[in-house]
Order: sequence, then structure tokens, then C-alpha cells
Amino acid sequence: MSTRRRFIHTLGVAPAVGSAVGASGAAGKSKLGIGLIGSGARGNSLANTVRGLAKKGMPADIVAVCDIYQPRREKTAAKFGVKGYASAAELLKDPAVDGVIVATPDRVHVYKALEATRAGKDVYCEKPLTHWQQFEKLKELVREVRAKGNVFQVGAQWVSDPAWLRAAKLVKDGAIGKPTHALTGYFRHSDFGENGMPIDDPNATPGPGLNWDAFQADAPHRPFNVDRFFRWRMFMDYSGGPSTDLYPHPMTRLFKVLGVNFPSKVTALGGLYLYGGGRDVPDTFDLLIEYPEKLNVVVIGSITNDTPTDTVIRATEATLTFRDTTFDLQPEYGSKVARPASGVPIDYQTEHMRNFLESMQSRTKPNCDIELGYRVQIPLIMAMQSFTQGKVAYFDSGTETIHLS
Ligand SMILES: NC(=O)c1ccc[n+]([C@@H]2O[C@H](COP(=O)([O-])OP(=O)(O)OC[C@H]3O[C@@H](n4cnc5c(N)ncnc54)[C@H](O)[C@@H]3O)[C@@H](O)[C@H]2O)c1
Repeated sequence: MSTRRRFIHTLGVAPAVGSAVGASGAAGKSKLGIGLIGSGARGNSLANTVRGLAKKGMPADIVAVCDIYQPRREKTAAKFGVKGYASAAELLKDPAVDGVIVATPDRVHVYKALEATRAGKDVYCEKPLTHWQQFEKLKELVREVRAKGNVFQVGAQWVSDPAWLRAAKLVKDGAIGKPTHALTGYFRHSDFGENGMPIDDPNATPGPGLNWDAFQADAPHRPFNVDRFFRWRMFMDYSGGPSTDLYPHPMTRLFKVLGVNFPSKVTALGGLYLYGGGRDVPDTFDLLIEYPEKLNVVVIGSITNDTPTDTVIRATEATLTFRDTTFDLQPEYGSKVARPASGVPIDYQTEHMRNFLESMQSRTKPNCDIELGYRVQIPLIMAMQSFTQGKVAYFDSGTETIHLS
């Protein structure tokens, strides 16, 4: 089915019970206007995806851009032929904006997502949902999105792979028995994501064209430094290393399949084993998550070696082994469960954005809604606390609080 036909098919369709979200200005509009907040590398890539879908007939397009760094704002606004704003507050007042993409550095996500939610907009928020020191703000955002009922998609695009969505249904329907152990991870042999981030202007300074305070948000305020501004992934003040930057991808789709709720305990180990360059984030990081339903989840990774790890779910009736877009089901000895067909490679980013735009129109929950994002972010925050303080992190699901001991 063509993109246009698939999209129009969703218009006016009553959302399935339990998956509906609230109405917004976007409902019933013939064309959705998307505002981009943060026009760096990722923001431009996502805006290209929206424009690409628009060209294929999706009734949605980029209509405004915001960045606190003037050169990037002007370049992106000119490229897409839209208005540029120096602050998200101004962009959110633009009546052409129905939904926003938040593609700022991690520390700023929650503030822009909250502002947009409170302004009645739908939100595509890049992963990680928040910085690892923002647990209270994370809870505030979850409460606000639940209250407003806006469409909220976390930008962990791997979860939109149909093979994983199919596996989620298999597990929910009991096809593999009870999962007791799961393993996933992320490996890469490069620090291009940190030390390779481009420095647009080595002589940049804060001022009217570069709002350093807005970049820092609630991070400890430091004197301006071009590395901190352009290569923010090198610093714990704005990032957290592989765990917070990369693990949301494998964790989100694994958690979607497992359908887990809150963890009981998390512990983590890691360190800076290879790279220098003035960074203070680890390059190698492993975490162990215990769930009260008697399930352990292990997440491992490093940016010092690129041999990948398969994602494996071990359950009482069968084992599911995932490799990219395919999976295999191996029945346990004596079990009669059938082997399902595997998937085909897809463009995750386009599928995930399409899913967001279709959800905006049909007012249904997207593939990575705020609840799934919350359940991925909690163990990541607990892992970072465990790692930085050398303790085990415990979660109290009654009060939704973290305790270290
Ligand atoms: N889903 C994915 O596969 C994927 C891939 C890459 C990046 N990301 C995420 O996208 C986000 C951005 O990463 P990036 O590599 O594009 O970084 P970047 O530094 O290239 O871009 C961030 C932009 O945000 C701007 N900005 C900073 N504070 C702002 C504020 N208060 N208001 C408006 N704009 C502000 C900066 O000036 C910069 O232009 C990160 O959170 C990252 O984790 C996701």
C-alpha cells in the first residue's frame, strides 16, 4: 500500500480501546505542521525524513525551526524554507506548529518536551528521554503527558521494526512461556559520536547568536568552552556515555517485547578504558537489571570494539534470538511451540517518524509512547547512579523512587 493510502486509511478511524490519546489542534487538520527544536545533526536528519515523507504524499511537513545557535538555525531554516526562532517558546506560539521534534542535547529534552506538551502540541522527543540526573523532571514529564494525553513518541526508532513488534505479540500470547533471562547490548569501535562531533566555529562565543545558558539548562553552570558546546557527548554534565546515548535503542525494543514494568534492582560497572580527549564519560558500560516478576535483563556494550551481540530472550518454553531485523525461535527440549517467519530489513527512522505522524492524525498511541520511554529511562538512570556512586540502586514501585545502598 502506498504511503498516502496507508496514511489516509487511518483518518477518522476510531482508536482501539486502551490506545487512544487526547485530541489536539492536529486532529482533523488536512496537513500537519512540524516544528524542529534543535537543528544540529539529528534534527536535520529527522527534518529530512519528514520532508521525504511529505514528498511521497504524507500530509505533513516541517514548518518552523528553533535553535539557540544562530548559524545552525539560519542554515536549517533556509534549507527547509521555513521561519527560524531563537527560542522554543516563540516557535510554540506559531499557529502552523501542531507537533514538534525535540533534537537538542539530552539535558534540554525534558524542558522542551514539557513546554511543548503544556502548549498542547504532540511531541517526537529524541532518546534519551532525559539526562541521567533528571529523574524528578522525568516524572514531571510523564505526569504531564498522561494529563494532557498528547501524542508522545520517544525517538528510539529501532522499536518500529515490524519483526520486533511481531515478537512482542508472540511473547504476550505466551508462545515462549515465561521469560526469565534476557541479554542485549551495543558495540561500536569508534568515538565519532563524541570526539568526532563537528566544531562549526572554533572561535564561537556566547552572545546574541549563541545562548549558552539555554544550552546548559539545569546542568552545573560552567564557563563557555567550544568542546562543551559542540562536543557535549564527551561530558557527564550533558550526556552519560554509551549507556544513555546508545542503549536506549536495544533496550526499548527489548522492553517492548518483554512488556516489563518497573525494575526492583540495578547495578552497573564501567569506565574509560580507551579514549582520551578530555572526556569524562565512560566508553565501556554494563548493567544488570532485576525485575520483581523474576526476570534478569543484562545490557552490555562498549565503543572500543564493534563485534555485536545478539539480543537473546530465554524463556521456559523457547529462546528468541534477534539479529537486526530478524529473529529465530528455538523451542526448549520437549516444547511444541512453532517457529515463526522472520522479518525483512526496513528503514527504522522513516517507519518511526511515519508512526508518529500517523498517530498524530489518528490520535492513537505511537510505538514508543511515554510509558515505554519511562520504563527504559528508569533503569538507565539507576545504572548511572549505581556507576557514579559505587552502590546498588533499588526501585520502590509504590513511591516510584530510587534508593542507593
Ligand atoms: N535516534 C537516533 O538514532 C539519534 C541519532 C543521533 C542523535 N540522537 C539524539 O539527538 C539529540 C541531538 O543530537 P545531535 O547529534 O544532533 O547534537 P547536535 O549538537 O548536533 O545538535 C543539537 C542542537 O541543539 C541546539 N540546542 C542546544 N540547546 C538548545 C535549546 N535550549 N533550544 C534549542 N536548541 C538547542 C544546539 O545548538 C545544536 O544545534 C541527542 O539527544 C541525541 O541523543 C538520536
